[in-house]
Amino acid sequence: MASGTAIILLLAAGLLAAEAAAPWWKTASFYQIYPRSFKDSTGNGIGDLNGVTEKLEYLKEIGVTATWPSPFLKSPMADFGYDIEDFKAVDPLFGTMDDFDRMMTRAKQLNVKIILDFVPNHSSDECDWFKRSAAGEAKYKDYYIWHPGFVENGVRRPPTNWVSVFRGSAWEWHEGRQEYYLHQFHKKQPDFNFRNPVVREEMNNVLRFWLERGVDGFRVDAIYHAFEVEADANGNYPDEPRNDWTNDPDEYGYTHKIYTVDQPETPHLVYEWRQILEDFQAQHGGDERILMVETWSPIEIVMHYYGNATAEGAQIPFNFQLISNLHRDSDAYHYEYLINNWLSLMPSGKSANWVIGNHDKNRVGSRFGADRVDLFNILLLTLPGCSITYQGEELGMLDAYISWADTVDPQACNGAEANYMAMSRDPARTPMQWSDEKFAGFTTGSSTWLPVAQDYAQRNVRKERGVSLSHLNIFKRLQQLRQEPSMQQGNAEIKAVSKYVLAVKRHMSGSYVYISLFNIFNSIENVNLNGVFSGLPDNFQYALVTDKSIRQLSDKVSAGSVTLMPHESIVLRSTEML
Ligand code: GLC
Repeated sequence: MASGTAIILLLAAGLLAAEAAAPWWKTASFYQIYPRSFKDSTGNGIGDLNGVTEKLEYLKEIGVTATWPSPFLKSPMADFGYDIEDFKAVDPLFGTMDDFDRMMTRAKQLNVKIILDFVPNHSSDECDWFKRSAAGEAKYKDYYIWHPGFVENGVRRPPTNWVSVFRGSAWEWHEGRQEYYLHQFHKKQPDFNFRNPVVREEMNNVLRFWLERGVDGFRVDAIYHAFEVEADANGNYPDEPRNDWTNDPDEYGYTHKIYTVDQPETPHLVYEWRQILEDFQAQHGGDERILMVETWSPIEIVMHYYGNATAEGAQIPFNFQLISNLHRDSDAYHYEYLINNWLSLMPSGKSANWVIGNHDKNRVGSRFGADRVDLFNILLLTLPGCSITYQGEELGMLDAYISWADTVDPQACNGAEANYMAMSRDPARTPMQWSDEKFAGFTTGSSTWLPVAQDYAQRNVRKERGVSLSHLNIFKRLQQLRQEPSMQQGNAEIKAVSKYVLAVKRHMSGSYVYISLFNIFNSIENVNLNGVFSGLPDNFQYALVTDKSIRQLSDKVSAGSVTLMPHESIVLRSTEML
């Protein structure tokens, strides 16, 4: 008896230790803020850091534990902050370094982690380093990728056929230096030369600078572009092979990207940065600092960013599998495959993350249908690992209509009016909808940098707070469910019940079994869960319903027969613990 008690105590102590040791980010709920559009505190129609600080309590209200604001550093704003002029200064449009410090202090009081958007692939052409590089100053000469190009029949042409993500040649002629420089994005975003160790150290110092100022980690922008193929002995670069689906040399898809992205050196850069975080940690203690890396690469390559046998990499290589591969007509088998494929390819001991939207993609409700907003929120928040939500998705914000005249996104402006809507990222970047006041309560000013979406009076934080089954309240309810032990640490089984219904089971002994069910299409479906999962308790109750449901919270239901209404997603909880 006495030894039995001792064992139980030991087990309990072990569990507590495991809980204490579980790093914060593993089951964090991340929230991406687009600062220009979150909250304007000055009335100039553009959001800012004081606006973010003012709304940190809202993040707390909706159960968010960490936020990643898009860049707010000094920038000419050719790509709205992704073109950085000074990597160690706040842009006056967004505030001051004191405002940043205040935001950090408030975030720490509320226990909301702050992740800095780190943009290493390129700087602005107005960055001092670029100006000095263009002037040929010895130290800076090779900070960027330069090449004189070739002269044929008296006409100068760029060094290769490489194309910019934002259309047109990836090479821009610089009159001053009489050479071309490489820019994989906008011509005002020259690419750094990461083969130059001085550049690497410069960027390492940027990381150290912001760690010192208290950030909890970095979202690493566009990492797969960091290296290009090495130049040959003559300093020349090879053309990329052509894709045959377009003859337009200005279209990004014109070449097959074998020399400009996903070079083998790139994950090692991330390993080097992880080491900087580890060294900082060793010196300063505190909670683990993290790296979240953006790479739109084949899944096998993405996995390298987690680390290798000898080095740790990013804790969170963004999982874009759902964003990139799911479509409106994808069936449950497709969802099941994409989710399980990530989980099975992930190196052992690593954690998963789930993303469905960001500032570069159309709104979830516009891509998949407004009827599926809750479905994706429930999926992201009940899968094992951390979730990453883009601002406004908790409200089910939809793409706004932005006319050509109002369009500001360089990715759209570099193209033509005829197809700008297919390219524009503006519709998902409109101001956050706080209330039904003028400009959705985003600003007290007289205009906004992008128009507010037309439906703001129906879809806003204030209104959704008051509607029991609003997207917002479902999001909040999910965050409570996420605190349950089975959701935090339990095993996960993801199965398609049929082509229409997806099921996610979370369970651990000594806890309730949770099952989320997703009816993807618009038919009524009946599900026998015993045929899907083994060892289920007989009885469940509704732990989360949506406005599609005809059942109420806490209603009882048998595992043998659960009916789902069109597009309904629910969470069930076993009435007894396992
Ligand atoms: C990333 C950002 C995108 C930006 C690009 C260039 O993909 O998410 O918004 O335009 O990098 O920095």
